[in-house]
Amino acid sequence: MVAVYPGSFDPITCGHLDIIERASRIFDEVVILCAVNPSKTSMFSLEEKQRLITEAAGHLPNVRVDHFTGLLVDYMHANGFRVAIKGLRVISDFEYELQMALMNKRLAEDIETFFMMSGSEHLFLSSSLVKELAGFDTPLDALVPPCVVGPLLEKINSKR
Ligand code: COA
Repeated sequence: MVAVYPGSFDPITCGHLDIIERASRIFDEVVILCAVNPSKTSMFSLEEKQRLITEAAGHLPNVRVDHFTGLLVDYMHANGFRVAIKGLRVISDFEYELQMALMNKRLAEDIETFFMMSGSEHLFLSSSLVKELAGFDTPLDALVPPCVVGPLLEKINSKR
């Protein structure tokens, strides 16, 4: 079975990668979907995000990257996919994710949301927090995949 892992991935973090690696051991194929969260402004372009994800997940043969602008359920239907993976970090994620899962269920009865708990070492992580820390010369090694560090620092420095 194919599972779709949607997100903004601005940029991909070690928390995302942990979910992707674990999901790739459960599902035949995992499609990482760069989707649009209308309430967010991106630091990285779509092409940059996809390139970083492809490189970070390059060691996983059954993982590929795609992108879509629009409703997740429309993407799922257009491609014949039925499972969407969402990662849960903290209790506060649950309310929002439950709301999205129920709305997606209402929009498309045949699509299931598959929740995975984030690894305990990533419970505090978010893309925004990583971008904030990158501006303060904090080591980023444990927070983002190695291929993300350089491009992230470049973005931060170009804005100074
Ligand atoms: N480890 C570490 N961080 C994680 C994580 C994990 N396992 N899982 C999520 N995060 C972080 C993300 O980096 C993100 O950080 P940010 O807010 O600083 O950017 C935050 O947690 C929230 O993640 P998520 O809830 O997955 O939001 P998102 O913005 O990454 O993705 C979409 C949301 C794109 C999946 C959602 O808006 C969507 O489906 N859009 C398509 C339109 C649609 O169908 N809308 C109707 C929905 S009912």
